[in-house]
Amino acid sequence: MATIENPSEAMRLVRHGDAATGAQAAALFALANGLVGVEGLIDERADRPCAYLPDAYVSRPIAYHESFPGYASATDTRVPCPSPVLLRLHIDGEPVDFGGADLVETESALDFATGQLRRLSRWRLAGGRTLEIAVDRIVPLAGGACVASRIRLRPIDFGGAVEVRLTYGVEGMGAGGAEVDDPRISARLRPVWTTISPLPGDPSTVTRFAQDAVELAYRQHVAAPAAEVADEGAGHVVRGTLVAGGTLTIDRVVALASARGRPVGPAVFDDAATDFDAIAEGQNAAVEALWDSAAFAIDGDDALTQALRFDLFQLHQSASRDPDHSIGAKGLTGEGYEGHYFWDAETFMLPVLALQAPAKARTLLAYRIGKLDRARAHARALGHARGALYPWRTIAGDECSSHYPTGSAQYHINGDIAYALALYVAATGDEAFRLRAAEMLFETARMWIEIGAFDARRGGAFCIHGVTGPDEYSALVDNDFYTNAIARRHLGYAAETADWLRARGDLGALADAIGLDENEIATWRKAADAMWLPVDAVLGINPQDDAFLGRPELPGLKSPVHDGPLLMIYHPMILFRHQVAKQGNVVQAMAMDLVSMPVSQQRRNLDYYGRVTTHDSTLSSVSFAIAAARLGDETAALDFMRECAFVDLEDRHGNTSHGLHMAALAGSWLVLAQGWGGLRLDGRVPAFAPTLPSAWQGYRFRLQWRGSVIELAVHAAGCTYRLLSGAPLDILDHGRSLRVGAAPSTLARPTVKGAIFDLDGVLTDTAEDHYQAWQALADTYGFAFDRAVNERLKGVDRAGSLRLILDQAGAAIDAEAFDAMLAEKNALYRARLADYSPANLFAGVTGLFAELRAAGLKIGLASASRNAGDVVRLLGIADQFDFVADAGAVAQGKPAPDIFLACADGMGLAPNQCVGIEDAQAGISAIHAAGMVAIGIGSEEALPDADLHVPAIGELTLGQILSTEQEAAARGRLSIRTGKVEDMPC
Ligand code: G6P
Ligand code: MG
Repeated sequence: MATIENPSEAMRLVRHGDAATGAQAAALFALANGLVGVEGLIDERADRPCAYLPDAYVSRPIAYHESFPGYASATDTRVPCPSPVLLRLHIDGEPVDFGGADLVETESALDFATGQLRRLSRWRLAGGRTLEIAVDRIVPLAGGACVASRIRLRPIDFGGAVEVRLTYGVEGMGAGGAEVDDPRISARLRPVWTTISPLPGDPSTVTRFAQDAVELAYRQHVAAPAAEVADEGAGHVVRGTLVAGGTLTIDRVVALASARGRPVGPAVFDDAATDFDAIAEGQNAAVEALWDSAAFAIDGDDALTQALRFDLFQLHQSASRDPDHSIGAKGLTGEGYEGHYFWDAETFMLPVLALQAPAKARTLLAYRIGKLDRARAHARALGHARGALYPWRTIAGDECSSHYPTGSAQYHINGDIAYALALYVAATGDEAFRLRAAEMLFETARMWIEIGAFDARRGGAFCIHGVTGPDEYSALVDNDFYTNAIARRHLGYAAETADWLRARGDLGALADAIGLDENEIATWRKAADAMWLPVDAVLGINPQDDAFLGRPELPGLKSPVHDGPLLMIYHPMILFRHQVAKQGNVVQAMAMDLVSMPVSQQRRNLDYYGRVTTHDSTLSSVSFAIAAARLGDETAALDFMRECAFVDLEDRHGNTSHGLHMAALAGSWLVLAQGWGGLRLDGRVPAFAPTLPSAWQGYRFRLQWRGSVIELAVHAAGCTYRLLSGAPLDILDHGRSLRVGAAPSTLARPTVKGAIFDLDGVLTDTAEDHYQAWQALADTYGFAFDRAVNERLKGVDRAGSLRLILDQAGAAIDAEAFDAMLAEKNALYRARLADYSPANLFAGVTGLFAELRAAGLKIGLASASRNAGDVVRLLGIADQFDFVADAGAVAQGKPAPDIFLACADGMGLAPNQCVGIEDAQAGISAIHAAGMVAIGIGSEEALPDADLHVPAIGELTLGQILSTEQEAAARGRLSIRTGKVEDMPC
C-alpha cells in the first residue's frame, strides 16, 4: 500500500513512481473547480477521456423485464470528456511511445497552499536518451471551466527537433470496452466522442465534440515563446528545438464548455482566461481565501492533518458552482456512481461548505429548488397525490435508481434537504433564500403525511411506513429511526417557517399557490410532536426499525468470509432478513443531533450498532467517529476518523480509482468539528463542547457563521476562541455563553460531567402529594402534624418520615401497626399519582435536560422514594436518565451520601465530577457528604447549606451547573485544570 511521504509537509500530497501514475493517483491528483474536473493523469499518458463537465451526461432508458408503475424509466450517466491535458511528442520526426518508454522516476505533488498540481517525470527514451517533463497544472478555483498547464521539456543528454502535439485523444475512439460488474459504478459507459464541424464564427482554436445529446467545445490557447505554434486539426502543434540541458516551456490553457441538445454558443469563451501566470495568481488568491475560513491543524498528528487538508481541499474543488448541478458522490474526480447526486451532498458535504464557503452551500440548495417540479413528478409517479419527493440518485432531477427498495424508498432524502436548508439559513441568516426555498420545504414536508399515520395502537404516535433508511442492508421497513428523526426535524422546521412567513405577511400567496391551509400546518406540528422514536425496553437502545432487533444476526459477520462489501456477496434479501447494517441509522441520527438522549443510551446504541454494522459504506465511519468522540471513546473515535480521513489516500475501500469518496472526505472535517469540537448546529448559536484526545496536544479549526470567522484552539486546559473577521459572535462553550471578539478568550474545560437530580419537589410537585398523604394519615390517627413538621420529612425515606412524625407527636406504636401505617400512607400517596402525566413535570425540566445532554453531561436520579420509577414513567421522562439510583438498594437514606454515591457510580463518574440538585436540607447534606456541589431549589433561608440557590428548577441553567465548579474549587472539592495556550500552525 502506498504511504504518504514527507508527512511533515502538511500542505502537500506527494507520491512517487507507481503511486504517482496508477489508477488511484488519477483520482488523488484530480483538479477541479466546481465547473470542470480533470483526473490526475500524467500528460504524456493522458490519452483517455479524463475531464468532467457537469452537463456532460447521457440519458439511457432502463430496460425492465417486469416493469411497474412509477419505476424509474431512464438513468443519467456522466461521461468523461476528451482529455484537455494530453501531450504527444515527436523527436526528430519519430513519435515517442510513452506507453512503452521507461519511466525512470516520477513525482506528483498536489499543493494545497497554491492549488497547483506539480509533476515531474524522467523518461529513458529509445537510444538511452533521457528526457524530463515537468508540468504545473491549475484548474482555477474561482475561475471558469478551464485547465491550465505550464509544460517544461528538458532533454538531459540529447538535442533535436521536437514537435509537441497538444491534442485531445479522440481520434480512433471506438465503441466497446468491458462492462464492469460492480453496482457502485454500474452503467459505466465507454465514452465515444466524435469531432464535429465548427460553427460559423468559431476561431480555429476551437474544437467541437459530440456524444448523444451532449455537445462540447474546447478552446485551446498555447504560448511557447521559444518555438513556433500552429493550430492544426484538433489542437495545436508546437515545433521547436531541444538543446541538451536546456528547457522548452509551453503554456497551454484549455477552456471547456458543454451544452445539452444544442451546440455550445460561439461566444461562450469570450471571457475565458488565457494567461498562465495570471491564472496562477488568481489561484493563489482563491486558495488563500479558502484557507482563511477553513484553516485547521492537529498538533500531534501531522499525517492526519495532511490527510484532512487533502480531504477538505478536494471537497472545495468539487463543490458545484453551477446551480443546475450538485456534487456527485465522487465529485468531479471520477466515473463512480455515474456522477449521480445523492443525499450525501446535503448531509455530509453541505454542512462543511455552509461553515466555510456558504455560497457553495447555497448553490447545492438552489439546484434542489430548480428540480422541484421533477420532484413533484416523481411523487406523482409513486402515487402520491400531493407533495414532492426528491429522487434518490439523479443528475437531471429524475429518479435514476432502477432498484426502488434502495432507491425511491429512501424518502429520507427529503428530510436531508430540509436539514441542509435549516443549517444553511442558520449559518448565514440568509432570509431571502429561506423565502425562496419555502415552497420546496413545504412540498417535501407533505410527503411525510403521505407515507405516515397516527397509530392508535401506539398511543397516537406518528409512524412512517414502507421506507428505507440510509442503511441499505434493510429495506422497506416501518419506522426507520433515522427517517422518523429527520422527518420530525423537517416537519418542525416547515411549521416554524410557516409561522415566520405568516408573521412577515408572506405566507398567503405561497399557501394559495400550493393549496396549503392552516390545518395542514397544524398536522405537521402534531406529527412532529408525536413522532415514534421508541427505546427498546429490553436493550435500552433505539430500534433501527420496527423489525430490526427481532431478526437473526448474519452468521459469520465480520469473519474473513466477508471480504469486501456484503452487497457484492449476497442477494439483497439475505441482507434484508438479517440484523446487519451497512451503516448505522441510529448512530447517524445521533451524530446529526436529531434526537436528544441520555449519554448511557448513546453509549448503548453505539456499542450495539457497532456490533452489527459492517461500515461497507464509507459514510458509516463519519457518524461512528462523531458519536464515539463525543462519548469520550478516543481509540474508536480516532480509528473511525482515520477510516474516513484516509479512505482514498490509502484506498481503504479498494475503489478510489472510481473517484474520491467526497462525502467521507467532507465527513473527516465534521469529525474534527462535531466530534472532537462537540459542535452542534441545532440551536440559535453555534454550540461547542470541545474535548481533547490524549493522543493530541491540541487542535484548531475555524468556521464562518453569519459572516464572522472564528477560530477555536483546543488545548489541555480548555479552549481559546478568537474572532478573525466580521462582527463579534455569540457562541456556547459547554453550555456557557461567550461573545467571541478579537481578543482571545479562554474557557477552561468544565470538570462537571454529570448532574444528579432529586425527584420530589425538584422535577415535579409530588412533595405536596407526600405532604397531603401524611396529613391525611395524621388526621386519621389524630397525630399533630402540619407543613412545618413536613418540611423536615422532605428527602427522608418513608419509614424515617413516619418515625419523625411519631416522635414529633409523642406517639408510640408497635412494628405491625407501623408497617400498616406505611402501607396506608403509600396507598394514599399513590392514589394521588393516578392523574399524573407529563403535564406534571415542572416547567423547564425538558429544556434543561436537553441542554445538559447537548453539553455531554450525564443525568442521574437520586430519590429516596420507592415510587420514583413509577413517577418518572408517569412524567414521561423515564428514559431520560443515564442512571436511576434505587432507594431500596442503598444502606442508608439521606442525609447519608449513599444514594448520590450510588448514582455517580452508576453513571461511571467520580463523585467530584457530579453536581446534586435538591429541594430538601437532608438532600443538600447528603450531596455534600458525597463530596459534590449542591444546588438548592429554594431560598437561602430554607436551604442555608446549598452552594447555589435557584427558586425553581425552570430557572436553573446549564451555565450555572457548570460554574458551580468554581464554587467547589474554592471549597477544595474540585480541582480546575489549567494550562497554557500553545501556539500551533494552521
Ligand atoms: C422523597 C420525598 C419524601 C418521601 C420519600 C419516600 O425523598 O421527598 O417526602 O417520604 O421520598 O418516598 P416513598 O415514595 O418511597 O414513600
Ligand atoms: Mg425532594
